[in-house]
Amino acid sequence: MQAAGKLMKVFLTRRIPPEGMKILSAAGVCEVSLWDSDEPVPREELLKGVQGAHGLLCLLSDKIDAEVLDAAGPNLKVISTLSVGFDHMALGEIKKRGIRVGYTPDVLTDATAELTVALLLATARRLPEGVEEVKNGGWSSWKPLWLCGYGLSGSTVGVIGLGRIGMAIAQRLKPFGVKKLLYSGRTAKAHAAEVNGEFVPLDTLVSESDFIVVSCSLTPETQGLCDKAFFSKMKKTAVFVNSSRGAVVNQEDLYEALTTGQIAAAGLDVTTPEPLPTNHPLLTLKNCVVLPHIGSATYSTRGIMAALSARNLLGGLQGTDMPSELNF
Ligand code: NDP
Ligand code: DGY
Repeated sequence: MQAAGKLMKVFLTRRIPPEGMKILSAAGVCEVSLWDSDEPVPREELLKGVQGAHGLLCLLSDKIDAEVLDAAGPNLKVISTLSVGFDHMALGEIKKRGIRVGYTPDVLTDATAELTVALLLATARRLPEGVEEVKNGGWSSWKPLWLCGYGLSGSTVGVIGLGRIGMAIAQRLKPFGVKKLLYSGRTAKAHAAEVNGEFVPLDTLVSESDFIVVSCSLTPETQGLCDKAFFSKMKKTAVFVNSSRGAVVNQEDLYEALTTGQIAAAGLDVTTPEPLPTNHPLLTLKNCVVLPHIGSATYSTRGIMAALSARNLLGGLQGTDMPSELNF
């Protein structure tokens, strides 16, 4: 039990937007210590910082495993992650210890869907290549077959994981004139009707789609889902886009598919590892557009995520409702 009037200890693994910090200080129930940096907390500092903490606010780049939980000790009541993805947390270990988990669904759906559509268009219409040609003098004249790409009008789009973000991506893509919207996942979704989505086996989606968008969560079943066999079933003219987690894709197999003409192009907002080393083979390819995991990166979204994760943390500390508690 907490002694009356004594502040609970919380550890934040990074600087977070002020919207979150203000909520924590105004609550007056916790003493905040943080890794006061925009860069990830080194593992030793995480293990030190979490000692005796009642609450932990972490990021998707922090691996929260048994070692961290043991370092925290028995006080730890709540882990609040500044993300909707929770694949960085050992949920089995967390559950065993009776610790509650907060996360940030919904509030980042629009921003992430918007970025995914931007990445799809940039990849399919070769925007980074075009910008580069303007700067390097490669633009000599208007040429009928120069920098041609692929358009959405009349196309078939396949969404792997028609969850919150997958659905928001589908809603944004439909007005571009998409003819057919396929999706795959573990279960058919009632909300798919809003976008005339057709639930199909993964193989059908892969072989029939002109654009494949991956928006599923990373789980043992989706890890390495997009591999050699997957890419070999895609159309040679198809564009592959991933804004879920890097580990859903086998990057060596993707590289081979892109260099042998097995598929047309790929756009990735997420990679393994992050950051992707600057000498990584994928970065040498003109038909691969890589972004630095910026799906939810709007000022407003990040502020709202910080506020939500602070409220989740406070709910867990005080034993009250959390606005977004993960059920696991
Ligand atoms: P949801 O839980 O709403 O959606 C996840 C979807 O994944 C569900 O529709 C689920 O389908 C599907 N899924 C699970 N297992 C499989 C499988 N084996 N095959 C195909 N689909 C599967 O989560 P969100 O939409 O909110 O977020 C999705 C993911 O996006 C996050 O987990 C995170 O990794 C990533 N993300 C990335 C961001 C970025 O910055 N790039 C920003 C935000 C999120 P079913 O219900 O049938 O199991
Ligand atoms: C998440 O929330 O899971 C994203 O990857 C970052 O916003």
